[in-house]
Amino acid sequence: MAVTPRILAFAGSTRTDSYNKKLLRLAAAAARAAGAEVTILDLRDLPLPLFDQDLEAQGLPPNARKLKDVMLAHQGLLLSCPEYNSSITAVLKNAIDWTSRPVPNEPPLACFTGKVAALLSASPGALGGLRGLVHVRSILGNIGVIVLPEQVAVPKAQEAFTPEGTLKDTATQAKIQKLAGGLAETIAKLRA
Ligand SMILES: Cc1cc2nc3c(=O)[nH]c(=O)nc-3n(C[C@H](O)[C@H](O)[C@H](O)COP(=O)(O)O)c2cc1C
Repeated sequence: MAVTPRILAFAGSTRTDSYNKKLLRLAAAAARAAGAEVTILDLRDLPLPLFDQDLEAQGLPPNARKLKDVMLAHQGLLLSCPEYNSSITAVLKNAIDWTSRPVPNEPPLACFTGKVAALLSASPGALGGLRGLVHVRSILGNIGVIVLPEQVAVPKAQEAFTPEGTLKDTATQAKIQKLAGGLAETIAKLRA
């Protein structure tokens, strides 16, 4: 791989024992194995106020600026997204809303346009968070992200992981490797 793809990975959950954070770690490891440089971010470490345009008028909150900067430094996004009420979680949508806002001397949607994303989800439910991914895919596509058609949803997440954090189902692990490898490869091809 001539170009080393730089991928930012985060989950749409801040929960300490989040299944999506576990899944994300596996996907990040697979992307690294495929030759990418991966930064894992916990949205809990960059708490953001609930988006409010009056607040924005006072200036971008420092953590929103930090999140924008880290996104600008990467070409790809690896996102593991819990499903809340059949949709995207508030914490993920809030992060997208803040980082999608224009600021002087920055092209519109600079954190998103032309970025490549791969999506995963995990849920204790039978669908593995699949319905939430429909909305995440739509939102990202509408702000200029190239979202890979493949995705991985892990159902019955409370039973899916070993105590070491690996997946019990080797077929799902293989799908994660394919997805993460595809993300690294797509970024490298686009940047070649
Ligand atoms: C407000 C709320 C709504 C939820 N709605 C759904 C849902 O629509 N579908 C689903 O599969 N799980 C739903 N769940 C359960 C989550 O999948 C579960 O809490 C999961 O552990 C969240 O992901 P995390 O472990 O990465 O934090 C919901 C949980 C909460 C707190």
